[in-house]
Amino acid sequence: MATSTNSEPASSATVAGVAIVASVILLVIRNTFRAQSSLDYIPSVGVPNGPLGFYRGALNYIKNARAITEEGYHKYPGKAFKIALANRWVVILNGPTLIEDLRKAPDDSISLAEGTNSMLHLEHTLGYEQHHDPFQVPVVRTTLTRNIGVCFPLVHDEVVAAFEDLVPVKGAEWTAVPAMQTILPVVSRVSNRLFIGLKCRDPEYIKLTTGFAQDVTQDAMLLHITPSILRPIAVRLFGHLEGATRSAMAHIGPIIQHRIEMDDKYGPDWPNEDRPNDMISWLLDAARGQPSRRSIRTLSRTLLNVNFGAIHTTTQGLLHALYHLASRPEYVGPLREEIEHVVREEGWTKAAMGKMIKLDSFMKECARISPGGAVGMLRQVVKDFTFSDGSTVPAGTLVGIPILAEHTDHAKYTDPDTFDPFRFARMREEAGEGTKHQMVTPAPDFLVFGLGRHACPGRFFAVNEQKLIMAHVLVTYDIQLKDGVRPPDEWVALLGAANSTAEVMFRKRST
Ligand code: HEM
Repeated sequence: MATSTNSEPASSATVAGVAIVASVILLVIRNTFRAQSSLDYIPSVGVPNGPLGFYRGALNYIKNARAITEEGYHKYPGKAFKIALANRWVVILNGPTLIEDLRKAPDDSISLAEGTNSMLHLEHTLGYEQHHDPFQVPVVRTTLTRNIGVCFPLVHDEVVAAFEDLVPVKGAEWTAVPAMQTILPVVSRVSNRLFIGLKCRDPEYIKLTTGFAQDVTQDAMLLHITPSILRPIAVRLFGHLEGATRSAMAHIGPIIQHRIEMDDKYGPDWPNEDRPNDMISWLLDAARGQPSRRSIRTLSRTLLNVNFGAIHTTTQGLLHALYHLASRPEYVGPLREEIEHVVREEGWTKAAMGKMIKLDSFMKECARISPGGAVGMLRQVVKDFTFSDGSTVPAGTLVGIPILAEHTDHAKYTDPDTFDPFRFARMREEAGEGTKHQMVTPAPDFLVFGLGRHACPGRFFAVNEQKLIMAHVLVTYDIQLKDGVRPPDEWVALLGAANSTAEVMFRKRST
C-alpha cells in the first residue's frame, strides 16, 4: 500500500515531465516555422540570417545583451527594433517619443502587470488573487511612504542590530564576509521591521523572504517551457508557492490572526496597547470590508509579494554601492564628512537622509551605471497599439526600453562610462537645480525605478533604506574588497546583476 502511494506522485511527475519535454520540442518547431509577419517590418538586431536564425539570435542575446541592445540603440535612433529573447521577440522602444508613448499608454492597451505576468507567470508563481487584486500597490505608494519618517527610528535600530549580528568584526582586525549573503538578510530584516515588526529577526523567516524570489524565478523558468494547459499541473508538482505560503502562514499567521481579532473587536483604537504601525496594519486597513483580502492566507501571500518586490532590488543597489566604495577609498572621506555633519544636526532621521546630497548622488550614480540590466520597463501590448511614428505593434507583443543605453548616452551625460559619484551633487549645486537630480526622481535619463504612473511606488522607502544602510556602514566600518578590484557584474540575457560571490572585508573604523 505504502509503495503504491509513494509511486503515484513519481509516475505522474514522470508523465508531466515527458509531456513538458515533448511540448518544448513542439514549441521550438512551431516557433521556428511560424510566420511572425506582424513584426517583420521592425528591424531585428543580433539575429543572423539563415536556418534557425531566431534561435541563434536568442543564444547570442543571452551572452551579449548589452552590446546587442546598444547596437540597436545607435543604429535605429528614434525607431523601434526587436531582439530575440528565449522564445519570443521583444520590441525595444528607442528614443524619447516612443518612451513617452509607452509612459502615456493606458493599462488596457499596454500593461505592466501582463508584461510581468508573461515573464514571471505571476498567476502561478505569486498566486491568482495576487495578480488580479494587487491591493498592496497603493498601500506601498501612499501609506508606507507617508510613514517612513515616523517609523525611521525602528528602521535605524534594525540596521544597527542587523550589522552587529551579521558582520562580526573584532576590533581592528579585518573580517571578510560574503557580500550578497550578508546584505540580503540585512535588507530582509530592515524592510520587514517595517512590514511585520521584530519577527523580522527570525532566521527561518529571513530564509523564506530571501529565498522566495529564487523560487519564483525557478518556477517561472519551468512554466516558460510548459504549455499553458499543463501549467497548473506543473505548478502543483514542482512549484514552490504553496510551500512558501504555508511557511509564511506558520511564521506570521499568529501575528495576523491577533491583529484581525483586535481589529474586529476595537477597530484601529486598541484600549490597552498601541496598534502596531506596520505593513500588516496598513494592509488590514486596505482590506476593510473585503473578506477576500482579510484572510491569513491572502495577507501572508501579499507580504511574500511585497518582499519579492522589495528585497532583491534594494540589495542589488547596495551591493553595487559597496563594491564601488570598497574599490575606491578616495570617496570615503567626503561621504563620511557629509554624513557626520548632517547627523550632528538632524540625528538619524528621514530629514537627515534628505540632506545627504553626496550620498544620494553616489547611490544614484551606482544605479545609473548598473540599472539591473540592458532593458527595463517591460510591458505586454494587450490591444494592438499604434505608436506616434505610425508603427503598429500587435497584442501579445512584449515591449521594453533600452535603459542602460539611455543611462550611458553621451548626449545625456558627460563621460557616461566613467563612474563619477558626485556628478548629480554638482548638478544640484547649480542655480534652481537644488531639488532636481535626486535618486528618487524618475526621469527619461534615469529609469531604474521606471517612469510615469507605474514608477516604483516603493522607491521613497528603498532610497531612504539604502542611504541609511550605506551611511551606517560608512561611519561604523572601514571596508575593502578581499580581491582588491571591483568584482564584475553578472549578466544573463537582458539582466545584469551585482556580483553574487565577492567578499567584502570590514573592520571597526580606525579614523
Ligand atoms: C532600489 C530598490 C528598487 C528598485 C530598483 C525598484 C524598481 C522597480 C521597477 C523598475 C518597477 C517597475 C516600474 C515600471 O516598469 O514602470 C517597480 C515596481 C514596483 N515596485 Fe519597486 N523597486 C525597488 C524597491 C521597491 C520596494 C522597497 C518596494 C516595496 C516596499 C517596491 C514595490 C514595488 C511595487 C509594488 C511595484 C509595482 C508597481 C505597479 O504595479 O504599478 N519596490 N519597482
